[in-house]
Order: sequence, then C-alpha cells, then structure tokens
Amino acid sequence: MTTRPDFALRNPGIRMAPSLLSVDFANAERGVAAIEKAGAPILHLDVMDGHFVPNISFGAPIIKSLRRRSKMYFDAHLMIEEPKKYAESFVEAGCDLITFHIEVAKDPADIVDHIHSLGASVGVSLNPTTPASEIEAIIEKVDMVLIMSVWPGFGGQKFIADVLPKVAEIKSRLAPHQRLQIDGGIDPTTIAGAAAAGADTFVAGTAIFRQDDPPAAMKNLHDLAQAAVTGAS
Ligand code: DX5
Ligand code: ZN
Repeated sequence: MTTRPDFALRNPGIRMAPSLLSVDFANAERGVAAIEKAGAPILHLDVMDGHFVPNISFGAPIIKSLRRRSKMYFDAHLMIEEPKKYAESFVEAGCDLITFHIEVAKDPADIVDHIHSLGASVGVSLNPTTPASEIEAIIEKVDMVLIMSVWPGFGGQKFIADVLPKVAEIKSRLAPHQRLQIDGGIDPTTIAGAAAAGADTFVAGTAIFRQDDPPAAMKNLHDLAQAAVTGAS
C-alpha cells in the first residue's frame, strides 16, 4: 500500500505518462528526475517477460530503486503471462497501478479483485486487434483501460491508427473517474488524433526520452493533446 495521492488517475483531463523503456538506463535517475521536475505526473513502467512479448525489459528491483527517488505515480504495464502471480511484488516495489493484458487473463474479474486487494489501482490492456467486447465483463471494475497502438514488446514503433475507433468506443463506456490510456507510437503527429478519439493518458517513450530536451518534448505533446480536445490552436 502506498501513500502517494492518486490525483494522477482520478481527475479527468490530459496527462502524459513518459515510458521508462526509452530512458538511457545508465542515467535513469537523471532522466526520471528531469521529467518529474517538468511536471510529469505518471511514470509508465513496461515490464516484459520474454513470453507474452518477444522481449525482456526490467522487473521489480529496478522499480523499487526508482521508487526511493521519485514521487511520481508509478504505472506498471505488465506484458507478462502471469500477472496475478507477480502483481504483489510490483505493488511492494511501489507501483500505484498495475495493468494486465486481457489476452492472458483466464479469470479477469479475479485478477482485478486481487490487484485491488493489494491496495493498488487496476488497468486492463488490449492489444491492437483485441476487440472492446473482450473487457465487457470487467470494464466497470477497472480504474483504467490501456489501448495498445503498437504490438507490445518494443519502443519506437509506428502508430497503428486502426485502433482509434476502439478508443472512441471504449471512451463512450467509461465513467468520469476511469482513465483511457493509449500506448505506442505517440508523437507530435499522432497525439492529437488519439486525444480527439477520447484518450486522456498518453504513454510516450521515444518521443520524450530520445529527444534532445525531454521536458520540452513532453510539454509539446501535452499541449498538442490539450489543443485537440479544447479546439485551441
Ligand atoms: C511497448 C510499450 C510502450 C513503449 C512505447 O510495448 O508498452 O510503453 O515504451 O514506446 P514508444 O513511445 O517509443 O512507442
Ligand atoms: Zn507500455
């Protein structure tokens, strides 16, 4: 159980969730501090097991170490085959929200209840071709829905615009306290369309951490998304 506020999740509005996956890992503390100082409310943590996705990233020890150095809301995106088995270790490491993939969930409601019982918020994620109907049974129970706009496993891929109708469909089903996150290929050319479709929480790795000035890149993305929903230029 953490003591950090959940303002990053419950309030409606546009917010950025920089993805640690694209940080320079030898200087991760510095990279995270820079975006936190610039006002990033959420740190997105991509956990990969080499089974659900064809890549391995990092696990709970790295997150625990960063937890001691950051007050950001920690959003763990578990791209792993056994989310229920490992959820507790990620909550203990300091994650505020645990997102699991619906594609691996044999009993999704049980996973949601388990993560909530650990004191964390819950997200459910859908791969690009997974239909919205797959989360029908749990949509009212989750705190966030994460729509993948690339096939999970790697940063730096091209945005799949075909997911936008699904973003709009799920947005129409969510209550005001539920967030709608989009992840993959978010950059200055794609973020406005995702915001217009209804996403409110934007993961970006390459378009933030691989830029010369990550705080400025993050602010620019935020402003583009905000403009798309307010009609400002
Ligand atoms: C992909 C991860 C993403 C990734 C996004 O499997 O879930 O969070 O970091 O990277 P970009 O923003 O570079 O597409
Ligand atoms: Zn992710």
